[in-house]
Amino acid sequence: MKKSITDKINRLKEEKNAIILAHYYAPSEVQEIADYVGDSYYLAKTAKSTNTDIVVFCGVAFMGESVKILNPSKKVLMPDMSADCPMAHMADIQKIEELRKEYDDLAVVCYINSTAELKAHSDVCVTSSNAVKIVKALPNKNIFFIPDENLGRYVAEQVPDKNIILNSGYCPIHASVTADQVKKAKEKHPNALVLTHPECREDVLSLSDFIGSTAEILDFAKETQNDEFIICTEDGVAYPLNVNNPNKKFHFVAENFCCADMKLNTLDKVLHVLESEENEVMVSDDKRLSALRPLDRMLEIAK
Ligand code: 13P
Ligand code: SF4
Repeated sequence: MKKSITDKINRLKEEKNAIILAHYYAPSEVQEIADYVGDSYYLAKTAKSTNTDIVVFCGVAFMGESVKILNPSKKVLMPDMSADCPMAHMADIQKIEELRKEYDDLAVVCYINSTAELKAHSDVCVTSSNAVKIVKALPNKNIFFIPDENLGRYVAEQVPDKNIILNSGYCPIHASVTADQVKKAKEKHPNALVLTHPECREDVLSLSDFIGSTAEILDFAKETQNDEFIICTEDGVAYPLNVNNPNKKFHFVAENFCCADMKLNTLDKVLHVLESEENEVMVSDDKRLSALRPLDRMLEIAK
């Protein structure tokens, strides 16, 4: 059954000149058939450099939107239009406007996990793998970091010479990890290194051996000599971790540590959108042009 779905998907991809991009948090069988799998930064870059007519994006709404903003001539399809990131909505345009009045040199730095509307009101986008580099490179002293408070605080610690104003958004998945869970996992696996995504809370980050984006966690696990790890990020990374490191052990800090929205991207739905070309991502021209500026600036600075 699975084989025949995969065959149909591959045939349609060829017929329609389509590619499939998937985030590491998508289900493993979707990662398996995708042409490109990566973290948010890699996917944003890749989307810009491909020349197919159709992109099927297996992630959440802000990611599909970013692909469309960067590639207006391509048809961007999402397997499930209801796959959304709650954090993407957790910032307020009025607050941005108030802070712009208060600080002459304010830079609004917008984590890519945000709506196109929020991006359109920002100066530069960042992802978890380039946020520190980009904030350091900005000439501005005063920074409003939206929407993720935890990533913003982590960046502020790395760039102490800037005044980083935090916003109260958070990822309900990563922010649910507690220091207690990490301590218990360490007691159970004393030789394991703790690898953590910066969307986790401050007390969890302080118990970690390595902090990085999903791709950076994967690279670290592969490159380091250690063979046992406690993973504090979404459990979709189990698939590439195990494929890349068959002799290493990975323990997830919590059971069912998963983003339900990412898991909406099933193989059946991938096949359905390839067949029907339904679920096309649309962004109005006005919004697209305003949101393109901070995305392009990110790609330029992070190069
Ligand atoms: P990265 O892909 O940048 O690690 O972001 C994690 C995330 O939560 C994506 O939704
Ligand atoms: Fe959003 Fe968190 Fe899911 Fe990522 S893991 S898409 S930040 S809710």
